[in-house]
Amino acid sequence: MLQIDSLTKRYSNSDVALKGVSLNLRAGEVVGLIGPSGAGKSTLIRCVNRLVTPTSGRIALDGQDLALVSGSALRRVRRQIGMIFQEYALVERLTVMENLLSGRLGYVGFWRSWARRFDAQDIARAFELLARVGLAGMENKRADALSGGQRQRVGIARALMQQPRLLLVDEPTASLDPKTSRQIMRLIMELCAERGLAAIVNIHDVVLATQYLPRIVGLQAGQIVYDGPAAELDAGALTRIYGDEDWTAITRKHSDQMQQAGTDGARAAAYPEPEVMP
Ligand SMILES: Nc1ncnc2c1ncn2[C@@H]1O[C@H](COP(=O)(O)OP(=O)(O)O)[C@@H](O)[C@H]1O
Ligand SMILES: [Mg+2]
Repeated sequence: MLQIDSLTKRYSNSDVALKGVSLNLRAGEVVGLIGPSGAGKSTLIRCVNRLVTPTSGRIALDGQDLALVSGSALRRVRRQIGMIFQEYALVERLTVMENLLSGRLGYVGFWRSWARRFDAQDIARAFELLARVGLAGMENKRADALSGGQRQRVGIARALMQQPRLLLVDEPTASLDPKTSRQIMRLIMELCAERGLAAIVNIHDVVLATQYLPRIVGLQAGQIVYDGPAAELDAGALTRIYGDEDWTAITRKHSDQMQQAGTDGARAAAYPEPEVMP
């Protein structure tokens, strides 16, 4: 459903952030994009939602070109893409419900989306999503009164408001503690499975990535140096992505997980505990 071909991005200060990246996602496929800081992970997903304009290459969502469109055509394609950010990008002084209903924020600016009238269907969907992400009854809480995990749940619900087909997730757990990080990763994986959503999840934590994401793409200096099952991400692949390091703790951890999970691999390991509120 998403096809990226020979994508390059050179920023105006001449930093080349992406050097010919090609990546395909099937409908409902979830990919973990890992790599060191500066590898180009954020640039790649920003090219897909066109917060950044690619220098060259092709991006197609269900055959519809994304690299070249602009104006109303771009808005139409973007409606199919939900975005979840590390810093949640919530409007602090507004309630959870107000944040959800301004779900287009990040693309159109808050006041423009707020000016539009919200219909009953949007409000019903917002309540349904709040319940699904574990925030039932919290609609009138102000965003600045929430914990990090709750804020990210609002961010997830907001990304789903427009019923996207593709989710782009940038470091969803970077500001969260390890337990909350796992709950958030599990929630994202469950929602993708339930709704048949494809997703690219940028994540620098290798253990977390291999625990939850069945397919891993490794970026290094703007190039893909690994694309394969999480279970096969061995010391050699990790060295290609991150450079020389002692990887035994990480590779031992996921071989343990694989043994526990049997042949079904990372996907089975993805749902080890019931969902709990942070
Ligand atoms: N807005 C920008 N202007 C100029 N250079 C940028 C910009 N954003 C990112 N870069 C550069 O592009 C490269 C990739 O950055 P980024 O995509 O943020 O990597 P990652 O998300 O993997 O940490 C880095 O060298 C970074 O300095
Ligand atoms: Mg980044």
